[in-house]
This record gives sequence, structure tokens and C-alpha cells, in this order.
Amino acid sequence: MILPSILLLVAHTLGANIECGVRPLYDGKIRYSRIIGGQEAEVGEFPWQVSIQEKGHHFCGGSIISEWWILTVAHCFYSDEISPLDLIVIAGSSDLTTASMEIQVANIIRHKNFQRLTMDNDIALLKLATPIYFNDMTVPICLPLHPTPPSWHECWVAGWGVTNSDDKRSMKTDLMKAPMHIIDWKECTKVFPKLTTNMLCASYGNESYDACQGDSGGPLVCNTEPGNKWYQVGIISWGRSCGKRGSPGIYTLLSNYTLWIEKIAQIEGKPLDAKPKRAAVKKKMRGRNQSSKCPALGYPQSWLLSCLLPCVLLRALSNWE
Ligand SMILES: *[C@@H]1O[C@H](CO)[C@@H](O)[C@H](O)[C@H]1NC(C)=O
Ligand SMILES: *[C@@H]1O[C@H](CO)[C@@H](O)[C@H](O)[C@H]1NC(C)=O
Ligand SMILES: *[C@@H]1O[C@H](CO)[C@@H](O)[C@H](O)[C@H]1NC(C)=O
Repeated sequence: MILPSILLLVAHTLGANIECGVRPLYDGKIRYSRIIGGQEAEVGEFPWQVSIQEKGHHFCGGSIISEWWILTVAHCFYSDEISPLDLIVIAGSSDLTTASMEIQVANIIRHKNFQRLTMDNDIALLKLATPIYFNDMTVPICLPLHPTPPSWHECWVAGWGVTNSDDKRSMKTDLMKAPMHIIDWKECTKVFPKLTTNMLCASYGNESYDACQGDSGGPLVCNTEPGNKWYQVGIISWGRSCGKRGSPGIYTLLSNYTLWIEKIAQIEGKPLDAKPKRAAVKKKMRGRNQSSKCPALGYPQSWLLSCLLPCVLLRALSNWE
């Protein structure tokens, strides 16, 4: 129970590396809840979530996996015209209007086997120009557990409900969230016969959500039991046309790509396990196992699928009472 405060302290005083998958602010004693029973995300609930913006417009989501790296999807960066110089990663806030951190992007690395037709290998990394400064609002998400547990306890997807990135007024600046259930892969192939083994299906309760273009690139995160760490399991990738029922959302199956991620990070000179020098001084995490290869932070960015989440969320909204 002392842990959250220790983490906070460390993060605040040193800006050092912190554990992945934790939510010091949200799980701590103090909660800045703005909406009760709604599905607006609470402050600090998804501290790994980032908005990727091009010239001030949110276009895709992403997740922080280390201080140098943002995980997102390849289809957001399909166009060769997108230059890293035009991109900004917004981190450290659930409300885009008060975003606390803006980080520039040094490099966009798409999976070289990304197939636009099948959407296979829909994964990309953004290398940041400057490292993310971790605090209680910016925390890296853990990469998937190995082996993957037979079932996860709780899963969520979140994103900024941007319905039209050309019209700023249509942008919801608050981060929205929806609970997700992972669907059996075989079952899902009945709906999506072209599903590859690199994909994962999830839906919102019984009310499957449609595939409008959602907040592509955003993370699907799960935990193993209450209070435990959060792991990223999928990346929002695609779905079917908006409005169709019985159609789950399709996610990039992250566990198939952890080696790819580690390799890219290594090649690019910013390995995931590299600890900031200042962090080495503080081995103050008593009784805390620095287990699992949790990568540090990063900032992703993406756009394109800009409707999936809004649909999910709207649907969820209408279902919640
Ligand atoms: C989902 O829907 C089916 C058919 O409408 C129903 O039989 C089932 O009980 C529902 N499951 C849940 C969890 O609501
Ligand atoms: C991806 O994961 C699935 C399910 O675990 C597995 O069947 C498949 O072989 C994996 N594919 C690759 C390329 O690792
Ligand atoms: C830390 O790791 C040790 C050995 O690996 C294990 O026995 C212990 O239960 C772990 N503690 C926590 C808090 O996970």
C-alpha cells in the first residue's frame, strides 16, 4: 500500500524510470473523478495512452512502452507523405485541451510486412525525439505477459472520440473508455474469415461494436487480477463498417510482436530495457520485484481509423442506463 506513494515520490522527485502498467494516481488514495458511472476515463486511469497528432489534429492513438517509444499501428502511417516532423505525441493527460506533454517524433517505423489489404502486421513504432518524462500521469504500459494467461481479468480500450479530425469542434477532448471482452479466435473467424493469426477479436459485452474507423493505434489493456499490473494485449486495428451488429473489433495481437519491438528498439539505439542513468541511483523499491520485461515509456501516434471508438463509446453510452 505504500507502493503508490513511493512511486509517486520517485517519479516526482527524480523523473526516473518507473514500473510499467501501474496507475499511481488512479489507484492511489486520491481520485479526481469527474464523471461517475459514465465512461469518460478518470484522470490517471490510462497513463500510457497518447494522442498522435498531425498539425494539431488528433488522428490516431498510441501507447507509451518506454521513454523513447510509442506503440501504434502501421495503417495510420501508410501514406509516405507523413513526415515525423509533422507529428506530435500528446501524453500525460486524459483531456487533450490540457495536455501536459508534447513530444516530437524522430522516426516512424512501420512493420515491413504490413499488408494493407489484409491488415496483417498492423503495427508501428514511433521513436521520440526526446524521452518521455515519467510521472504519475505518464507511465509505460507493460508488454504482454509470457505465457499469456488463459484468461484476463479485466480489459479496457480507450481513446479520444474524434469523429471528424477536420472539424476541431467535433473532437471530444476527453478520453473515453469501454470495457472489452476478448473473443475466441476460432469463433471470430466465423465473422471474419480472413482473420490472420496475428489478430485478436474483442467486443463490448454482448453488444459487438461496429468497425467504424476508431481510435486506431490505441491500446487494448488487460490485467490479471484486481490491483495487478496492466498489460497491453492488442492494438486497435480495424473493424467492419459502422453500424453493423455482431461484429467485433479487430486488434493486432501484440504477443506476436514483442520480439519485433525489442529488435527494432535495439537496432534504433534505444533498447527497451535501457534504464535512464539517473534511475540507476535509486534502487529504493524495496519488496518490489522488478519483474517482467516492462518496457519503459514512449509516445505513439496514429490516425485513420477514426470512428471505431466513437462508435463503441456511443453505443456503450446508450447502453449504460
Ligand atoms: C448475449 O445475447 C444472447 C442472445 O441475445 C443472450 O442469450 C446472452 O445471454 C447474452 N449474454 C450476455 C452476457 O448478456
Ligand atoms: C501468432 O500467435 C498465434 C497465436 O498464439 C500463433 O498461432 C501464430 O503462429 C503466431 N504467429 C507468429 C508469426 O508468431
Ligand atoms: C519476488 O520474487 C520472489 C522470487 O522470485 C518471490 O518469491 C516473491 O514472492 C516476489 N515478490 C513479489 C512481491 O512479487
